[in-house]
Amino acid sequence: MEVNSFERLRAEVSQCRRCNLCQGRTHVVFGEGPQTASIMCIGEGPGYYEDQLGRPFVGASGQLLDKILAVCGFSRQEQVFIGNIVKCRPPQNRDPLPEERTACLPYLLRQIEIINPPIIVLLGATALKGLIDAEARITRLRGHWMQWQGRWVMPTYHPSALLRNAALKRDAWEDFKLVIDKYREVVDPQHHSDYH
Ligand code: URA
Ligand code: SF4
Repeated sequence: MEVNSFERLRAEVSQCRRCNLCQGRTHVVFGEGPQTASIMCIGEGPGYYEDQLGRPFVGASGQLLDKILAVCGFSRQEQVFIGNIVKCRPPQNRDPLPEERTACLPYLLRQIEIINPPIIVLLGATALKGLIDAEARITRLRGHWMQWQGRWVMPTYHPSALLRNAALKRDAWEDFKLVIDKYREVVDPQHHSDYH
């Protein structure tokens, strides 16, 4: 039954014209990962390669994200579903506008409801503002657990920020250590990671 609701949602989003971002897209990027994922990583929106391929986080940011997840003992095949605040690429990769975030948010909320992950990792300011609070600041809130709708939420830097400014990586690794700890606490006490 859940498979059907997820596939119905996917079909609905693939036709969506709720905001202007539909005009420039090649593909809607629905998100991907197991429907049973315990961790949901939420980014901003598709970039060039994501729009071309219809898959989330496949460009440079995605390669870095995959590397971070692998070191933590996580993968998109097993524990992690990856989604975005907006599902169509903003022109020139500009930040999604507040009205675009608002238009697209119901889809993300339905994905969260269906996947039901105990842990959510917010990648960057757009994810934090889009899901939690438009006034929230990533530099202030990263590295601190928050509770949202009965889930554990960890805001951290977006991988593209880490690519632009390598000095942020130290903090990002600390944030992912907390995610490993929480995964052991609420999902699998035996979880193995080479890192921590
Ligand atoms: N950056 C994002 O925020 N999302 C993607 O899917 C790719 C890059
Ligand atoms: Fe629809 Fe979201 Fe794409 Fe806007 S970004 S057209 S709301 S799927």
